[in-house]
Amino acid sequence: MYLTKLEERILRGEFAEGTQRALELLVAIGEAYDAERMIPIARAHAASSGQEGDLYFVELLANGGAFCKVPTSTNPVYDVTYFHRKFDSIPKDEAEVARRVMEAYKRVGAILSWSCLPYLTENIPLFGETVAFSESSATPYVNSVIGARTNREAAQSALAAGVIGKTPKYGLHIRENRKGTCLLNVEAALKDEFDYTLLGYYVGQQVGYGIPVLAGIARQPTTEELINFCAMSNTTGAISMFYMPGFTVEAATLEEAFQGDVPKERITVTNQELSQAHEELQTTSGEIDFVMLGCPHYTLKQVEQVARLLKGKKIRKDVSFWVCTSATTKVLAERMGYVNIIEKAGGHVVVDTCIDEPCWTAYKNKVGMTDSPKCAYYRRFKDVIVARLPDCVEAAIKGKWG
Ligand code: F3S
Repeated sequence: MYLTKLEERILRGEFAEGTQRALELLVAIGEAYDAERMIPIARAHAASSGQEGDLYFVELLANGGAFCKVPTSTNPVYDVTYFHRKFDSIPKDEAEVARRVMEAYKRVGAILSWSCLPYLTENIPLFGETVAFSESSATPYVNSVIGARTNREAAQSALAAGVIGKTPKYGLHIRENRKGTCLLNVEAALKDEFDYTLLGYYVGQQVGYGIPVLAGIARQPTTEELINFCAMSNTTGAISMFYMPGFTVEAATLEEAFQGDVPKERITVTNQELSQAHEELQTTSGEIDFVMLGCPHYTLKQVEQVARLLKGKKIRKDVSFWVCTSATTKVLAERMGYVNIIEKAGGHVVVDTCIDEPCWTAYKNKVGMTDSPKCAYYRRFKDVIVARLPDCVEAAIKGKWG
């Protein structure tokens, strides 16, 4: 792999040790993928988490004096103080890991967004930009909806890229590798965000690893529908990029999406496949202990929907009701009165965290309900019912579903 004089000096240890470690990782990845050289990036997003593996690498860089060269945002961890007030069952060592992770990201100069939707507010790529984004919804959203270019990074490789300001040139940074691999005829009626969630769930399962091209989408999907599709398809599968010709930016036609080739695989999705996907996700019915919304983090529009559904109502006393969002969105939701309505009904709007964090261990033997199959997929609870948002709210008020 070709290295510039400056890159060679960094590798020889002539600069901060943390910077050297970051470049060593990028070079190892580049060599593994036969990258010819490094290319500059405009920004990065590190899928940070309050877990040991993440702690090791971010402290290695921070203790070695590394500092982000380009804007580098961070994924949810959790506000240790807040969660200790709510649950006294968080093991002290886990809380300490989360605290250290957050502190180390601050020391390396990352944007402390602690959100999985940085591409909407805190760290927005531009069309055609080269970036290094990790996180399940972020990678396909950035490649497909925005038209920037990123590989499916890990938290560590994205952070290293943010520190060096470069990434190895391979994979989706090369135009020919952005070719569609599979044609999906969408015959299902996609009515709402939840249908896009189920579509993503099914597409990820069927395609596995590849670039699906979705034909037959009848109308422009909303931001939230696209976010849900991205998050689910990149959870049940490894979908770093997709096309919806006419709606996503990089290819206006099927021919452009396949770069003139004939699709090797064809799949049809009807209402029946979506109903089956929904059924697969139902593991129980009856009484619920909690409702968990905001995986991926809810947008302002979704927080408003929750407030509208809860206005003037009361969540049952023995049901906990959580809405996860970003700190940026919560500020606006507070200003607009949505948080007040949700709290008056007995719910909580929380920032900086998500279902994949150890702070929720208090619910491990409980039955929950969510509108996110990704939330259910992590199986951090005894059982989870997956349903549309209005059904989740109704169940929270009644204390049961079905
Ligand atoms: Fe976001 Fe966490 Fe879900 S990172 S997509 S809220 S598992």
